Amino acid sequence: MRVCYNKGMLEIYFTRVPVRSEDYTRHILQKYYAIPAADIRKTIHGKPFLPGDKVCFNLSHSKGLTALAVGRRGAVGFDCEDLTGKARPAVLAKFSARERGEISSTRDFYCHWTARESYVKYLAGSLAALWRHVEWYGGRIYLDGKEEPVRVTQFEREGCSFSFCGDYTRYALRRADPPAR
Ligand SMILES: CC(C)(COP(=O)(O)OP(=O)(O)OC[C@H]1O[C@@H](n2cnc3c(N)ncnc32)[C@H](O)[C@@H]1OP(=O)(O)O)[C@@H](O)C(=O)NCCC(=O)NCCS
Repeated sequence: MRVCYNKGMLEIYFTRVPVRSEDYTRHILQKYYAIPAADIRKTIHGKPFLPGDKVCFNLSHSKGLTALAVGRRGAVGFDCEDLTGKARPAVLAKFSARERGEISSTRDFYCHWTARESYVKYLAGSLAALWRHVEWYGGRIYLDGKEEPVRVTQFEREGCSFSFCGDYTRYALRRADPPAR
């Protein structure tokens, strides 16, 4: 099935069937984007991409869920975290003071966590290298204290907190299991 998508739309596919990230990416690109045998490469920090970038994508997994965000409007960074986890005090301590002021529940914690990670993944960066430089505060991303001109969208579904970063105004989430092996 090939679908013509609105350019500002981010399509998010998920499964709870155990699957390798690259196999899932290939399956989705072939089935929904008519890209057979995708020539997937990786950036220096390991972000998979397709040369030409006609289709941009980013994958995330948490507990048993694998999810792939795909769009046609430039880079996307995507993160999901299962909400049954607990806010990790060691991680919480590494948020900035003004971010900690916005975090009063596990849900808030994962909103902040996934927003930051979606931005790092949008940049194809490394979380370890960028963590101290990034903030998610008042619904905006800051890099070294300067507000960044990027959009982060968040939602909760399937017991998970999701964030995506990029030039996308709308999203759709759909279950798409890989073929039985
Ligand atoms: C990218 C990163 C933030 C994701 O962390 P995570 O907790 O594993 O998060 P997720 O499950 O949401 O995402 C993993 C997926 O994102 C993609 N990914 C990997 N590196 C990425 C990067 N730098 N930017 C964006 N996406 C990336 C892959 O599809 C990966 O799936 P895989 O591990 O099964 O191959 C973290 O792994 C990181 O900082 N990586 C950089 C490390 C680095 O610099 N390595 C250099 C040698 S490759």
